[in-house]
Order: sequence, then structure tokens, then C-alpha cells
Amino acid sequence: MKFRLEHGALDKLAHECLVVGIHENHELTANAEKLNKASRAYLAQLLKKGEIQGKIGQFLFLYQVPHVSAERVLLVGCGEKKDLSARDFRRIMGCATKALGTTKITKALICLTDLTVMQHDLAWKIKQTVEVCLESLYQFNSLKSAKSDHPSLKQIDLFTTGKVNLKSCEEAIKQGLAIAKGVEFTKNLANLPSNICTPSYLASEAKSLAKKYKTIQTKVLEEADMKKLGMGAFLAVTKGSKEAAKLVCIEYKGTQKKQAPIALVGKGITFDTGGLSLKPADSMVGMKYDMCGAATVLGTIQTAAELKLPIHIIGILAAAENMPGGSATKPEDIVTSLSGQTIEIMNTDAEGRLVLCDALTYVERYKPSVVIDIATLTGAVVIALGHHATGLVSNYQPLADELLAAGIKSHDRAWQLPLWEEYQDQLKSPFADMSNVGGRSGGVITSSCFLSRFTKKFHWAHLDVAGTAAMMMGNDRFATGRPVPMLVQFLLDRCHK
Ligand code: BES
Ligand code: MN
Ligand code: ZN
Repeated sequence: MKFRLEHGALDKLAHECLVVGIHENHELTANAEKLNKASRAYLAQLLKKGEIQGKIGQFLFLYQVPHVSAERVLLVGCGEKKDLSARDFRRIMGCATKALGTTKITKALICLTDLTVMQHDLAWKIKQTVEVCLESLYQFNSLKSAKSDHPSLKQIDLFTTGKVNLKSCEEAIKQGLAIAKGVEFTKNLANLPSNICTPSYLASEAKSLAKKYKTIQTKVLEEADMKKLGMGAFLAVTKGSKEAAKLVCIEYKGTQKKQAPIALVGKGITFDTGGLSLKPADSMVGMKYDMCGAATVLGTIQTAAELKLPIHIIGILAAAENMPGGSATKPEDIVTSLSGQTIEIMNTDAEGRLVLCDALTYVERYKPSVVIDIATLTGAVVIALGHHATGLVSNYQPLADELLAAGIKSHDRAWQLPLWEEYQDQLKSPFADMSNVGGRSGGVITSSCFLSRFTKKFHWAHLDVAGTAAMMMGNDRFATGRPVPMLVQFLLDRCHK
């Protein structure tokens, strides 16, 4: 998909389709009013007939509007006339693109940048439009024998009026495209089933990134390497599986300057059966998505490379499969982590923290400026925050604040939970330094408490994306690509610091 900026006299532009908005109670937006005037109040008369009220979600295609050069006009409902919320703006854009996607239109001119959105400027609107458009047209059917039709839409032009900062608008398009590409990459990986997307597959995807971008290098640690290092916690998770576990290290160097790296550590459980603490059948569905953290690291680094961000990133994928089996780890087994701390594995289904704790200790050797882990870590975060906010826990408030702000800017938001000492007691074990579970209460926090014992040497934030990275709604299951937009925004903000 191509995106371009366009300006000029709206009624004279010979496009296949112009997309304009109407508010509730038949109020036209500024650009729609231009067409109304040009067409001698054709739109106003039509609206009086009540074909479309202007609610968000409604749309209406008009053909051969008098005195308008474009072949079609798409009227899109924009809700009440007021400053829109970021969410409403995205809903409107999504609806417009989906409507365009069902037609034979190859090139459309979107004129909805005249809407005002609370606390956001034109560049933000353009960037979000690019992201939402590509998001709305996303399909995952590489594994279906009957390929559904590709949408005809090939180009979207974005209409601007008056004096605009062209450079910042072009930059917004570029960023939006790179983010959308990263999101798509993450979703494609996440949507693959675990018989295809194995730990080895994730490693090979990381290697392909290194082939594609000169700024990226990849190194893969095998189980034997991890054994030599003493990663007893990580290896405990893979013991029941026939798939070889991998610790994938990706380095992105976008600058020649010596710079302490930003480390991104992703949980990459390609399938989580729970291990011997087996999940019930119904809860096991969706567990191919337990590698979304790792997929997010890949998508974020791809975007950084695409945008040539002048920063240094280390990405670590902790990739393994959690299976029961004759040699699987058993409840009450005690292992020694890379940090030297011992762990009593009371529940083999709390495996994410086991692979992550060793990956987090391993990342120390890169002397990172900050470490962010991304993990579908707990069902508890879904109970606490539902599917709209990512759970955020950090041992350094300025880092938490940066991520919260990046979440708001990108509309890929997180909500912080506390990391208070009081919760640490829940991890006590009578036989080891700690248990890997902390009971039913405060599950997001106790899982973070567990990780915090391995992150004392650096500024660290943990993103629990179990509710936001993938969703299940009845028969529909899908990855969202979150939190790639938040993390890219975080990186962009860091570049400007
Ligand atoms: N991968 C799951 C968490 C999860 C649950 C992700 C639902 C997405 C949707 C994780 O490994 C897990 O099983 N966590 C346990 C932890 C418990 C045993 C302390 C959970 O949340 O039940
Ligand atoms: Mn689990
Ligand atoms: Zn898991």
C-alpha cells in the first residue's frame, strides 16, 4: 500500500473515491461541506432523506455527485460533533478502510484529517490513519487452500488543507508505515500454529532479519550452550519437549556511537500446555500465542531497522515449548537459575517467568541502559485489566512513566501495577530460595516480584501482554501486534532525548 499527501480543490480532484465525514444530526465536516457546496447542496438534500445519521460505524457510497470530479464519494459517520477521542478517530478510520476494502476501488483520497482529535495534531492523525488502514485490511490466510480476494485498494492519499508542515506529515507517513509493517510481522508470526512456529522457526526468523538489514546481527544459543552457562530455570521448561529450545540474541546497531543498549526480552513459549501441571483443554486453546512477547521483539526491531533509528538495541527471545512428557519437570523439582538463586517449581504452568529469569540474567552482560521484558505471563492480568491495557510493572518509575506516555501517544496503552515489598512474601519456599508461584491473589504482581529478583542490576520494566497481544472471541482468535506501537514510540522518544 502506498500513502501520499494531496491538496487542492476537492471538487476538482479526479479520484476514484473521496472519503469525507458527517457528524450525527446530519452535520457535515469541513471537507464534506466543500463537496456539498460544489454539488449545490446535493449532500444536504440526501441527508434529509435519512439514509445515514452520522453515527460511527455508518457509511454510504454516493456515485456521480453533481459537479464533483471524483467517481464516488464515501460518506463516513463520525459521531457527535466535538473533539474526538483517539479511540473514536481510529474507529472512524477503520470503518472507512473496511468499506473501501470491500469495493473495487484501487485508489482513494481520505479527507478525514479535518476531524479534530483531543490532544493530538495533524502528524498524529496521519500516522494513526496509516496504521489503522493497514490494520483494517490485514488478513491471515496463508494456511487456507482457498485464498480469499486481496483487497483492490493499492493507494491511499491523505488530504490536507491550509499551511501544513509537509516534512512532519511525510515523516508521519513513513513512521506509520514502518510501524504497521512491524505490527504485521508480529501478527503473522503469532498467528502461525505451534507445529510450524517452533523455537527453531523463531530463531530462523531472527536470522532472516539479520540477512535483510546490515544493522542487525543474530546469535543463537543452543540447549548445550545454556547448560554450560547454567541456565537451570530456562532448561527446566523445555525438558518435556522434543523441540529444541533456543535463546536468540539479536543486536541492532543504528549508530556508530558507543551507546549502552536498550534491551528487549521476549517470552517465546511456542506452545504452553502447562507441562505436567497440565492446562484444562479449554484453557489450552490460544496457547500458540504464548510467544507473542518474542514476536513483539522481532517486530519492534524490524521497525527500528526500517526507520534507521540511531540507537542500539539488544533483543533476546526466550524460545521453548512447554510440554508434559517422561522427562518433563515435575512439581516440587528444584532448579538453580543462571543467577545462582534456586527455585522450587511448584507449578510447571508458571513457565514464562522461568525462561525469562535466565534470559534477564543473561542480558546483564550487555550492560543495558534499560531492560524491558514483554510476556504473555499471567491469566491474572486479563482478570485485572481485561483486553485493553497491558500490565506494566517496573523497578524504576521514570522508565514506567516513559512507557505509559509512549502508550498514550501510540494509543497502545499500559496501566501500572505496584511492585511493593509486601507481595514478595508470597514467593516463599520452605526448600529453595523461592517458589515460582505466589498463590491466587495478586498474580500479576507476584509474577513481577519473581522477575524482580533477577533484575536488581538494571532499570527494568515488565509488560504483561496476556490480555492485549492476542484475543479470543468465540470462534475468532487473532493476534493484535501489540505492544509494537508502544515500544516503537518509546524508541522514537528516546531518539529525541
Ligand atoms: N501463558 C500463560 C498465561 C496466559 C493465560 C496467557 C491466558 C494468555 C492467556 C502462563 O504461562 C500461565 O500459564 N500462567 C499461569 C500462572 C499460574 C500457574 C501461577 C496462570 O496465569 O494461570
Ligand atoms: Mn503457563
Ligand atoms: Zn505461558
